[in-house]
Amino acid sequence: METSNPHAVIVSSPGVGHLVCDLELGHRLVSDHNLHVTFFVVVESNSSAGESELVQSARTRKLLDIIELPPVDISSQVEPNAPIFTRLTTVMREIRPTLSSAISDLKLSPTALIVDIFGTPALDVADEFHMLKYVFVTSAWPLALILYAPILDKEVEGEYVVQKQPLRLPGCMPVRPEDVVDPLLNRTKHEYSVFLQVGLEMRQSDGLLVNTWEDLDTPTLKAMREEEGYGSVPVYAVGPLVRPVGPPSSRSELLDWLDEQPVESVIYISFGSAGVLSAQQITELASGLELSQQRFIWVLRPPSKDKACNDVLAYLPDGFLGRTHDLGLVVTKWAPQSEILGHGSVGGFLSHCGWNSALESILNGVPMIAWPLYAEQKMNATKLAEELGVAVRPKIAPTKGIVGREEIEMMVRKVMAEQEGKAMRDRVMELKNSGEKAWNEGGSSFNALAQLVKQCELNSERQRVKAP
Ligand SMILES: *[C@@H]1O[C@H](CO)[C@@H](O)[C@H](O)[C@H]1NC(C)=O
Ligand SMILES: *[C@@H]1O[C@H](CO)[C@@H](O)[C@H](O)[C@H]1NC(C)=O
Repeated sequence: METSNPHAVIVSSPGVGHLVCDLELGHRLVSDHNLHVTFFVVVESNSSAGESELVQSARTRKLLDIIELPPVDISSQVEPNAPIFTRLTTVMREIRPTLSSAISDLKLSPTALIVDIFGTPALDVADEFHMLKYVFVTSAWPLALILYAPILDKEVEGEYVVQKQPLRLPGCMPVRPEDVVDPLLNRTKHEYSVFLQVGLEMRQSDGLLVNTWEDLDTPTLKAMREEEGYGSVPVYAVGPLVRPVGPPSSRSELLDWLDEQPVESVIYISFGSAGVLSAQQITELASGLELSQQRFIWVLRPPSKDKACNDVLAYLPDGFLGRTHDLGLVVTKWAPQSEILGHGSVGGFLSHCGWNSALESILNGVPMIAWPLYAEQKMNATKLAEELGVAVRPKIAPTKGIVGREEIEMMVRKVMAEQEGKAMRDRVMELKNSGEKAWNEGGSSFNALAQLVKQCELNSERQRVKAP
């Protein structure tokens, strides 16, 4: 394949969330910056249908050379139920020989290796080929925490979760002990040392790409670039990168229903593909919605204890569907989230706060109710509510207890019907505009990728000089 464009390799670790962003990064590098990109997908034996669908649709776009790497067996090294951080970094360490031989088989020698957050153990492979090494991460605040973790490890005595004071990170909102991410919950656990190790490996890279943009995370980005404690690695803000909206053929009756609703009148409720509530929490949410008398689309999953259940609707309060017949829809299957959030009738999003969902919501100008379900999402919720002012969140963390119907009613009304909602909507519209500006030609994220490509070009030249 004759081309003088530099060639980058992206390696995507298992999991839908990362795959979405990694693919978008690849597409952007090819379509806006003429890079040649080979995209390796690391498949797990139990990989989900969602992953293969994403890969299929990326193949039809024909921008990337997509190559699947076969699953590696890590069963002798980690327990099947080991935490995700431990499991995936192990997969990415064990993939090294496969990756290395796949790279040497490429016709055009690559000049940069880009991995995602779990891929840092695979960065060594770049050294064999004199490639640059980059890590692509979802958001700035957790990145700051990972980079700074080796310092916290020295400074803080005792468990983080029992500190009286929040953890201070230069340039960031302090991290409340109750918000710390899972791997920091217990310092005696193996997962904690894996987390520290990832921070150290990131410091050895040639740059960190973050799925944010300059205006969204100004102080954090500045601090990561200037404060020595973060390791002085170049930081490129390259977002917002989100899942592209599907082709018009994916229109569903949900969208037809939305067409008939007034502008910004519907709240969309979804806890992501893996998010489940308890049976009691489903009851409270239903009652709160009904009390609020606001329109809704609710993607309902069976409660945590009953995953195999085939009558999810039975968990709704008696008569709920009848009484809310004119107000809303309950969906028990997959829903086209990007299209729903992009619809003019949607005016609010009750979300589990995965970063992809939060970015999608922001880019569609939709304020949120932040409802984190897992520890790693609590920082997202705090940031959206307290720093960016585009979300409300329950007083009690949904990970700790049941959020009652009155509070739910109040939050829904706040977002959908009251003055506070109006202010959040204005704020989220500002962010939407600044996010769009960032990746248009000449915007900050566009320019950051251009700089990255420049580094790749320089390295191609160095590689040519070194080659026999
Ligand atoms: C951390 O885990 C150890 C055992 O692995 C346990 O004894 C200790 O209580 C845990 N600490 C916290 C804060 O959960
Ligand atoms: C937000 O959630 C994503 C998972 O979707 C996680 O990877 C990330 O670390 C979280 N960020 C914050 C700020 O908590």
